[in-house]
Amino acid sequence: MSVLEALKSRRAVRNYIPKEVETEKIQALLDCAVLAPNDRLRQPWHFYVIRGEAKLRFKEIAKEFLLERFPTKPNLVQDSLAVLEKTPLVIVATADVIPGDEASSEDNEYAVCCAIHSMWLAAKELGLGMVWRTRGVGLVRDERLLQFLGSPENKKVVGTLFIGYPEADAPESSRVAAVEKTTWL
Ligand SMILES: Cc1cc2nc3c(=O)[nH]c(=O)nc-3n(C[C@H](O)[C@H](O)[C@H](O)COP(=O)(O)O)c2cc1C
Repeated sequence: MSVLEALKSRRAVRNYIPKEVETEKIQALLDCAVLAPNDRLRQPWHFYVIRGEAKLRFKEIAKEFLLERFPTKPNLVQDSLAVLEKTPLVIVATADVIPGDEASSEDNEYAVCCAIHSMWLAAKELGLGMVWRTRGVGLVRDERLLQFLGSPENKKVVGTLFIGYPEADAPESSRVAAVEKTTWL
């Protein structure tokens, strides 16, 4: 698959068949992630692989968070937890925060975004589906997730990646043409 083909066919995949992702494939995704461009080669990323028993523990903090966030929407909480249950693999990606250096910390986050996109394309080629989640069960802005990861110092969660073998083709998603988003000066 060419890079252009992967870019054009990549989709956010949110539904998976009940099949575990092989450890070799997880490793292949991570090996691609660390090739991403990054300022001054700080390689400011860390990846936390969550599956099996760890995923059950993740579900507990997700439940706590969702019940707190959506106290009047029990169906939404149930549906979100069901999504997590049906997701074979979760990977959390963090960026290094450099105390007192806001600009470099920001660049570190950009680098992690590049790494996540590399994983998304690599997933496509490996026959996997992936979605980057921040909201809801993604827990990206909730302190509980950092605690779950072991409260690593000076790390910011950038993305929670849900991954598995796709159940079906993801729906098309259209874009405004680049020409309308471009100013040639
Ligand atoms: C930073 C970021 C955060 C996202 N957060 C969520 C999320 O919380 N939940 C979700 O279902 N999808 C999330 N997505 C996936 C987008 O919704 C998806 O990429 C968009 O709908 C376009 O679809 P496509 O990727 O198939 O082209 C996120 C994507 C990005 C880049």
